[in-house]
Amino acid sequence: MVKQTPETVILLNFGCKDIQKFARAIRAEHIYTMVMPWTTPVARVMQEAPVGLIVCRDEAASEHPAELAAFQALNIPVLIDKGMDAAAAIAFCKDTCKCQGLWTVDRFIEEAVADVKAQVGTGKVVLGLSGGVDSSVAAALIHKAIGKQLTCVFVNHGLLRLGEPEQVQKIFRDAFDMNLVYIDATDRFLDKLAGVNEPEKKRKIIGAEFIDVFAEAAAKVDAPFLGQGSIYPDFLESIPLDGNPNGVIKSHHNVGGLPENLKFELVEPLARLFKDEVRAVGRKLGLPEVMIDRQPFPGPSLGVRCVGEIKREYLRMLREADAIFTEELRASGWYSKTWQAFAAFLPVKSVGMLNGERHYGYTIALRAINTSDAVTAQVVHLPWELLEKVAIRIPTEVQGISRVVFDCTPKPPATIEWE
Ligand code: XMP
Repeated sequence: MVKQTPETVILLNFGCKDIQKFARAIRAEHIYTMVMPWTTPVARVMQEAPVGLIVCRDEAASEHPAELAAFQALNIPVLIDKGMDAAAAIAFCKDTCKCQGLWTVDRFIEEAVADVKAQVGTGKVVLGLSGGVDSSVAAALIHKAIGKQLTCVFVNHGLLRLGEPEQVQKIFRDAFDMNLVYIDATDRFLDKLAGVNEPEKKRKIIGAEFIDVFAEAAAKVDAPFLGQGSIYPDFLESIPLDGNPNGVIKSHHNVGGLPENLKFELVEPLARLFKDEVRAVGRKLGLPEVMIDRQPFPGPSLGVRCVGEIKREYLRMLREADAIFTEELRASGWYSKTWQAFAAFLPVKSVGMLNGERHYGYTIALRAINTSDAVTAQVVHLPWELLEKVAIRIPTEVQGISRVVFDCTPKPPATIEWE
C-alpha cells in the first residue's frame, strides 16, 4: 500500500532500538512518518514522496556508508540523528522540511474510507471481530466506508470474559447496525480441549479450531476480501527493520500467518497507525470507551489463564473472579494505570471458611503488570486496600473459590500470562 499523504518524513533505521518511540513522538506532532530499514531501495523510499529523511542510528550501530551516501544524494533534506533527540527531529521536520502538522484523525479517516472504497468497489468484506481494540476499530472504519458490504464474524470459543459476547453483539449489531454473524462454538472448542493440560497444545488446538470455524463462516459470506485490524507495530515487528533477519521481534499471527487455503485479498485500514492513533480513530467513529481503553487480551483468551486442564466449571469461576477484579480496578482508577491486569485460575484446593463453615475450594491468582513492549514487565504495586477488597469479594461471591493470591513476579523470570 503506497500513500501519498503530504508531509511524509521517513525514518531510516540504520540500527536504532527505540525507533518506534521516535516515530510516535513525530506523529504526535501530526507529522506523518514511516519507518524503513536502511536496506530499503531508494526508489521505494521515493515512492512515498517524502519531504525529509531522518537517519536513525544508535552510537554503537555499524555504519553503512554506501547506502547512507545514496540517501544523501537525493534532493531532499536529510538529518542524521545519533542521539534519538526527538526535539531536534521535530525541529527538523518543522523548520527544514516545512511540515505544518496535517496528519490528523479526521484526515486519516477520510483517506482510509476513500482507500477502502477504492479497493473493494462493490465487493464484500468479511472480518473476524474479536472484541479487541484493533479489530473493533477496523470494523467501524470499514463499515463507515462500505456499510452492509461488510460482514463481521464473531466466534465465541467459550473462553471469553464475562458479558463479552453480549457486549460485542450489542455494540456492533444494535448500535452500529452491522451485519454480524455470531457463532457460539463453545462446545466445539471445549470438547477438543477436554483432558488437555499442556499450554502449547492448548494454544494449538484453540488456534487451529478458530481458523476452521472462521473459515466455515467466511465461506458462507462468499467475500473476496478479508478485513483485518493489523496495526503498524505488527508490521514493524514482523520485518527485520535493521536489515538483520535476527532482528524480527515477533511474527504476528495477522501478518503473513494466514493459511494458504484462505484465499482472500486483505483490507487493512489501520496498517499505518500506532495503537494510540487507533484508539483516537475509534473514539472519533463513536465506539464506546469500554471498547477503546481495553487492555490487551491474548488470542487463546481465558484458555491460557485457566491453568492446566480447561473445564466449564473452572471457566465459570475464572470469569466471575476476573469480572470482580476488573470492576474494582475500574472503580479505583487503576484499570487505566495498568497495562494488563487479570485473574488466573489455579486448580489448587485449599481450606476456607464460608458462613462459619469449613469448605474446600480452588485458588485465584491476581496479576497486574506494566510494560512498554511485553518483552519485560514490572509488577504494578496495587494498593493493599484494593487487593484486600478483591481478595475478600472473590471467595465470598464466587462459588468454589476459597483463596486469592497476588502474583508478584516480574517478567523475567516469569512470563506475563500463567501459561
Ligand atoms: P507472555 O505471557 O509471553 O505475554 O509474557 C506477552 C504478551 O503476549 C500476550 N500473549 C499472547 N497473545 N497469543 C496472543 O495473541 C498468545 O498465545 C499469547 N500468549 C501471551 C500476553 O497477554 C501479553 O500481553
